[in-house]
Amino acid sequence: MHQKLLIIDFGSQYTQLIARRVRELNVYCEIWPYNHLPSLDGFQAVILSGSPHSVRERNAPTVDLQAIFANGPVLGVCYGAQLIAQKSGGTVEKSATREYGRANLNDVSKKEDLFKGIKKGSQVWMSHGDTIFEIPENFKIIASTHEVKVAAFKVKKQDVYGVQFHPEVYHSEDGTKLLGNFLYKICGFTGDWTPGMFVEETVAELKNTLKKDKVIMALSGGVDSTVAASLISKAIGKNLHCIFVDNGLLRKGEFESVLHSYKDFGLNVKGVDAKARFMKALKGVSDPEKKRKIIGGLFIEIFDEESKKIKDAKWLGQGTIYPDVIESVSVKGPSATIKSHHNVGGLPAKMKLKVVEPLRTLFKDEVRRVGRSMGIGEDFIGRHPFPGPGLAIRILGDITPEKAAILQEADFIYINALKKHGLYDEVWQAGAIFLPVQSVGVMGDERTYENAICLRAVTSTDGMTADWSRLPYDFLAQVSNEIINKVKGVNRVVFDISSKPPATIEWE
Ligand code: XMP
Repeated sequence: MHQKLLIIDFGSQYTQLIARRVRELNVYCEIWPYNHLPSLDGFQAVILSGSPHSVRERNAPTVDLQAIFANGPVLGVCYGAQLIAQKSGGTVEKSATREYGRANLNDVSKKEDLFKGIKKGSQVWMSHGDTIFEIPENFKIIASTHEVKVAAFKVKKQDVYGVQFHPEVYHSEDGTKLLGNFLYKICGFTGDWTPGMFVEETVAELKNTLKKDKVIMALSGGVDSTVAASLISKAIGKNLHCIFVDNGLLRKGEFESVLHSYKDFGLNVKGVDAKARFMKALKGVSDPEKKRKIIGGLFIEIFDEESKKIKDAKWLGQGTIYPDVIESVSVKGPSATIKSHHNVGGLPAKMKLKVVEPLRTLFKDEVRRVGRSMGIGEDFIGRHPFPGPGLAIRILGDITPEKAAILQEADFIYINALKKHGLYDEVWQAGAIFLPVQSVGVMGDERTYENAICLRAVTSTDGMTADWSRLPYDFLAQVSNEIINKVKGVNRVVFDISSKPPATIEWE
């Protein structure tokens, strides 16, 4: 088994970022909310996260620090540092000066392992309303900024550290170095968490759990379900039965090409052509939520029919990833952040199957690393997110096969152009939208009255917030020309320049 670190979450917006940095340094870690802690057994070290709370509040979140100190090295970040200082006899008060944004370490104890290789002047990111005012006798200050005297401290003769800045955020320029120093020099981690190691361990575990059982799984063409299925397939081969449904609302040519790739990976997959059923069920429906319900419901129906053909299936494979898992046991409670659009939600209960989720400990970027290490091509790994209901929520208003065909053609031109111009990877998600308006145009000598297509492209890290991509004008001009010239039924192309919030990425 590999080594592991525990991150105790006090609700900071940056907690997941700490975990990602730690994992990038090849150390396995788990995030647990302070009020749902697991046993410390097996965790070599602990990081205490930041928090929107203040240690000065009457019921401020806290943990049994003595037990945590006795377990191994500890690093407190921001609130975590303030909690350590306060509980050890120091004082924490409201900051008198601005302690938000960029600052520079103007005093650094280079002799300290935590700051090895970090120079005086290094930029750090501060974000706190409280500050450590006095430290206990057995503490020493090991870094300061102009404004913040106790930017970092160490408990003498113990491997307990606190930093009042956020090493995990990108603006802390030596943040990764500091975390690496903590993990390698102080905790003695060896960096044994690698994609290859993950594949090896997971496949062994899956073999052990699934034995000769049959697993069924729906594939979506996305990176998560593909990597999850590849792992299960590596463990149990043909006992994994995958189903890939064509709902007629995928991108142009996607069903055929993705099915082909799945077969190339050696997956036991069945393609189900259900285009006509989806079109029929969606006929005349223009309310977005109704569209989602119909598509979700029909998908479950088809999956149910197909899985009945597979005798004695015991398990349902799913591509759930770590952010979904953390969200359901977060400090804020299970209900706060659960996504309303979960593609195959409801399936396991209905089908009385046990669920197997080999990616439930991984972040998205780790899923990609694992996928690459298994030889899955960049066309899968780097693919933009695509919504479960597909083009149904990009055709505003009611859906017809003609509109779907027009949108597929326009989208195909747009996405291929992004790839050809090297812009695809700079954009987080892109797609064309079929607008429910017609407008006047001229083509040759004739007046036209035809459809408008909108192009959407956004940059984002997780889809929760997004900004519109500043695509070059010349590129947009070329794509617009090509769409209007080649796609019959379109005489106008517009570009969406709205960020999220207040707009959303999808139009419906
Ligand atoms: P919004 O439009 O909410 O989208 O800004 C955020 C991300 O979620 C995707 N999305 C969906 N995915 N089923 C899905 O599987 C849905 O009903 C759905 N609606 C939005 C969207 O494509 C973007 O990546």
